[in-house]
Order: sequence, then structure tokens, then C-alpha cells
Amino acid sequence: MSKVQETKQTDLLERLKQAQHRYGYLSEKTIARIAKALDMPIGEAYGVATFYSFLDTKPQGRNIIRVCKSLPCFLKDYQMITDSIEGEIGIKPGETTPDGRFSFQLTNCIGACDKAPAIMINSDVHSDLTPDKIAQILRAYK
Ligand code: FES
Repeated sequence: MSKVQETKQTDLLERLKQAQHRYGYLSEKTIARIAKALDMPIGEAYGVATFYSFLDTKPQGRNIIRVCKSLPCFLKDYQMITDSIEGEIGIKPGETTPDGRFSFQLTNCIGACDKAPAIMINSDVHSDLTPDKIAQILRAYK
């Protein structure tokens, strides 16, 4: 990758993050506008927008639950965690509750491997999880 391409990729990621912060998610129109401003193909910008788990191309709920699916967490109660969350809020990974309270996503490592299994809700990391603790944690997010 040339220096110009590297700079463009860095600019793209920064603009996507800023747009997500401003609008809550990245619509096709927003991605197309950013791609045009950087003089790059829309498909390339869309590819970056869909690659990173912290970027969303669909509107999200007020609270985003991210469950780590990387190996250390996966090997420690991943299924219990996803089952408990599904049971509590009635949606599967990739979905948003009809009332817009929660979006439920699977993600790669969230940097809390030493506390696996871990989940993140918005910017809060939760660990040492049990079904009861998950229910209690979820109740705190309105
Ligand atoms: S592997 Fe789950 S937090 Fe790192």
C-alpha cells in the first residue's frame, strides 16, 4: 500500500468514526458522501465501514451489548452468556429490541481477556458473569 493510499485509509476511518459519533450509525448516503470526498470507490468505503465491529451501518439501540466471541471468552461460558442475554431481552445477535433499548452484537476481543468471559455494554466492561448477574446488569440500562 502506497503512502497516499495509507493516508486515505486513515482519513476514511477517522471520517467514518466522526460520522458514526454524529449520526449514531453510518447510512449508505453517509458512506457514499465520505467516499466521494476522499475520491475513492463507494464499495471500498463500505467495506471498511462493515469490517470494524465498532462501526454500525444500521441504526442501533440506546445501549449496545457487545459479547466477545474470541477464543478465550468463547471457551469460557460464551453460550451461557448469549443464551442469558437472548432470554432477558428477547433478541439474537445482530438485532435491536423493538423499543430501541438494546442492540445485541458479537465482537472480537474487547481487551478484557484476563476477565473472560467478558461483555461490553456501551463503554462499560462486565466480567465474572452468571445468568443472574447478567439479568441484574441489563436492568441498569434503560
Ligand atoms: S478474548 Fe474476550 S475479551 Fe479478549
